[in-house]
Amino acid sequence: MANDILVVHQLNKTFKAPAGDVVALNRIELKVKQGEFVTIIGPSGCGKSTLLKIVAGLDTDYEGTVLLNGKPIDGPSIEKGFIFQEPRLFPWLTVEKNIAANLSLEKPEVRKKVDELIELVRLKGFEKSYPRELSGGMAQRVAIARALLRSPDVLLLDEPFGALDAFTRAHMQEVLLDIWQKNRTTMIFVTHDIDEAVFLANRIVILKPRPGAIRAVVPVDLPFPRKKASTSFQQLRYKVLNEFEKIEELELVDSSVI
Ligand SMILES: Nc1ncnc2c1ncn2[C@@H]1O[C@H](COP(=O)(O)OP(=O)(O)O)[C@@H](O)[C@H]1O
Ligand SMILES: [Mg+2]
Repeated sequence: MANDILVVHQLNKTFKAPAGDVVALNRIELKVKQGEFVTIIGPSGCGKSTLLKIVAGLDTDYEGTVLLNGKPIDGPSIEKGFIFQEPRLFPWLTVEKNIAANLSLEKPEVRKKVDELIELVRLKGFEKSYPRELSGGMAQRVAIARALLRSPDVLLLDEPFGALDAFTRAHMQEVLLDIWQKNRTTMIFVTHDIDEAVFLANRIVILKPRPGAIRAVVPVDLPFPRKKASTSFQQLRYKVLNEFEKIEELELVDSSVI
């Protein structure tokens, strides 16, 4: 479709290892629309990071088709922002310089954009702080602002809130939704937290391991803002949980055959 920003078709990825090859991704089919919020969920080792790195252009050694804006992905570019689990800030730079990275704050257009982003990620008053003075959630908000500076078409987030406590995590989810609603940047967000996946997504892609493959895709039609304690939220949560239970049943069948 015309407004598909990302198209993944027949994607396979195998890691060659002395102990035997690992099929990390097996025939992945995925289309993401412009402005969509997609969460990818699945147990450890099911290929979530591998898939995200391929879309980011950080790994170009794969079979199949991966298109961003209709063009094959052949390396990192400013169209793709990436957020890791840990913020990866420069410890010797202030918040505003971390966000500007290698662009000069002396330039009025950079200054303006950095100031807007500081506002957006709710760090006003901390422009001159150093990473060591920030909480984990604040540091991750700096990383998000830095990734947004070049207005990427898609933001790729690999368990970005995984190291944060539950309250900070819930706050970060609200901040990210606010950013998405204001900027309409396409989001592809990896998590292994079902509540987080349901809270954020327009669509949840459920992966299963060995080999990494898509088990199910669950649309989330709940209006925003969502309430985690509401019945409709809990119903969707059960639907996703149910898919995981099916994966476990499949694995039991597999092991009983062996
Ligand atoms: N560089 C690598 N070399 C060999 N195997 C790898 C490498 N990276 C990942 N794998 C394997 O590929 C599978 C998927 O890994 P990964 O994408 O990191 O999973 P997830 O992010 O879902 O936990 C795992 O079995 C993992 O051990
Ligand atoms: Mg991972």
